[in-house]
Amino acid sequence: MSTDPSSGDLARARGLLEDAARVFILTGAGISAESGVPTFRGEDGLWRSYRPEELATPQAFRKDPRLVWEWYAWRRGKVSDCEPNPGHRALARLALARPARIVTQNVDGLHEVAARDEADGSDWSAASPLELHGSLFRVRCTECAYHGRDRADIDATDRDTLPSCPECAALLRPDIVWFGEALDPLVLSAAFDEAREADLCLVVGTSAVVQPAASLPRITREAGGSVIEVNPQTTPLTDFADVALKGPAGIVLPTLMGD
Ligand code: OAD
Repeated sequence: MSTDPSSGDLARARGLLEDAARVFILTGAGISAESGVPTFRGEDGLWRSYRPEELATPQAFRKDPRLVWEWYAWRRGKVSDCEPNPGHRALARLALARPARIVTQNVDGLHEVAARDEADGSDWSAASPLELHGSLFRVRCTECAYHGRDRADIDATDRDTLPSCPECAALLRPDIVWFGEALDPLVLSAAFDEAREADLCLVVGTSAVVQPAASLPRITREAGGSVIEVNPQTTPLTDFADVALKGPAGIVLPTLMGD
């Protein structure tokens, strides 16, 4: 399949996008690959260098919060050096211009940066993503109900230097969904509502193997909508999609949107 604007697939995808009254956008690690953020399952995927069960679990945090924070401090630092790519920017412009909702599995905060940039001082909330798996730039208290946004550097040299709650002084943790933890039910139900209400689901850069996110495109389809996939590789969704545009998001999305 080609990303050439004259190709039949691209023309079909453009038609679906133009006709859609409401668009549901589901993204995964692939949208950020061209920004330099490693994906989870690719050749250089994050999980190849680190064993997730040692770091991204509540048990690991209870056992050694310093080590887990050190890993998240490293990830936060790495992602802070990355910038949104033309794929993030095209999606932000779409969501600012038309009824659309971005739902992401990513924790890198790049959709938010793109939304702020593209809104250029105006209200960017229409392009603010629903973050299914949390964010590297959010924290929550291990004891009380405190939640907050936090872009500060983390000092993980010692247990005593780790971030603490401004309300009760207990240890803060990354506000990220770890292995063995459930997704926030309110966020999840909002995502299912968005998927159901849309007449087009645009799935970008996800291997579509992690539930429940992987089933969201099927919700749009069951409700009568169409599905477009943007991914250089084949996934379990490729045959199911009405159109599969095989290519990198940073090239395909701006082309799809006629930028
Ligand atoms: P994966 O790493 O599983 O999949 C990334 C997908 O992006 C693959 O299908 C690639 O082919 C595709 N891809 C790579 N480069 C791309 C590009 N330039 N443009 C478009 N697509 C590209 O990442 P996810 O599907 O996001 O969960 O993984 C889902 C969840 O698995 C993550 O959120 C994480 C992990 O366990 C948690 O941490 C809870």
